[in-house]
Amino acid sequence: MVSQTEHDQTFAPRVLEWFDQHGRHDLPWQHNRSPYRVWLSEIMLQQTQVATVIPYFMRFTERFPAVTDLAAASEDDVLHLWTGLGYYARARNLHRTAQLVVAAGGEFPDSVDGLMGLPGIGRSTAGAIASLAMGQRAAILDGNVKRVLARHDAIAGWPGTSTTLKALWSTAEAYTPGTRVADYNQAMMDLGATLCRRSKPACPGCPLATTCVARATQQQQAFPGRKARKPLPHRETCMLILQRNDGRVLLEKRPERGVWGGLWSFPETDCPGTLPGHLEGFTVHTEVADLEMPAIEHTFSHFHLRIRPVVKSVTAAPVGVAELDSTVWIDPTEEIYLGVAAPVGRLLRKLGRDPKESDNKD
Ligand code: ADE
Repeated sequence: MVSQTEHDQTFAPRVLEWFDQHGRHDLPWQHNRSPYRVWLSEIMLQQTQVATVIPYFMRFTERFPAVTDLAAASEDDVLHLWTGLGYYARARNLHRTAQLVVAAGGEFPDSVDGLMGLPGIGRSTAGAIASLAMGQRAAILDGNVKRVLARHDAIAGWPGTSTTLKALWSTAEAYTPGTRVADYNQAMMDLGATLCRRSKPACPGCPLATTCVARATQQQQAFPGRKARKPLPHRETCMLILQRNDGRVLLEKRPERGVWGGLWSFPETDCPGTLPGHLEGFTVHTEVADLEMPAIEHTFSHFHLRIRPVVKSVTAAPVGVAELDSTVWIDPTEEIYLGVAAPVGRLLRKLGRDPKESDNKD
């Protein structure tokens, strides 16, 4: 591991002092510590909160008190006992690992590298087992610890990138003390879970507050950095606001699938010059000029949509133009009780006042 000399030597002592007073000392896997029990708890805790894990851990250790019991069980039994914890690959890896450990003589490997050779054990889980169960100086870096370290040292970037992850690991290793490493690692996880929370961190009670760079600059929310979002593509559509002489406008019910599924909306077209096929029976009053209203920008999770609304004065053909139950003529000056897409609601309100108004109040 990297030497700790270039890092703040008071970091670990402050964390440990806090742990003695405020850390968790009574979790079931902290009693009768063994590599088997610590490994089992760490696998369960990989994607699941402590409070959920506790009853599962109790049932597992009662049913399979030793790694040999787990190895001898059927996969069905293991999966059945795992039911409700989710991420079932964890349970299958757990079972395979138990069988590998038993086949190799019944003892877990006693090094981080050896542990990492087993299914389901990554670097942080290996560090947790080596430190918590074997007292070795090994660093951990679960989600909570990443947050504490990223904030304290203002380590920029998303931990999913290799550069940021490398910086976090070397920081984790540098701060890990040579003594009381089990307590220190447990403390770092507890700090992240209880004080250095993702939102509303409880900085005043934190032993690291005086040296935390994110706190000093009030930038706690900026760390850890988030995944860079891909720029969303831009699309454009023209909403046809077909208006009758009596002022009513046509809405169509959108298909259940796709954006605005099941909501009422204006017919859309790429090109406002002609009506789309299913509306061909309408007579457009060409003597009345189309009115192009200001465009509306709407952002979906996966694209930006620029909506160009065009009002056309029409007379509907008497029958057969569109299915009756999927179209409706709406009076925009009246309150709307249908489910409409947000930009459609804006347009209707605007039409209800005066579509030529240039202000943007809705
Ligand atoms: N999350 C992962 N390992 C943990 C542990 N040992 N205690 C609390 N939360 C954890």
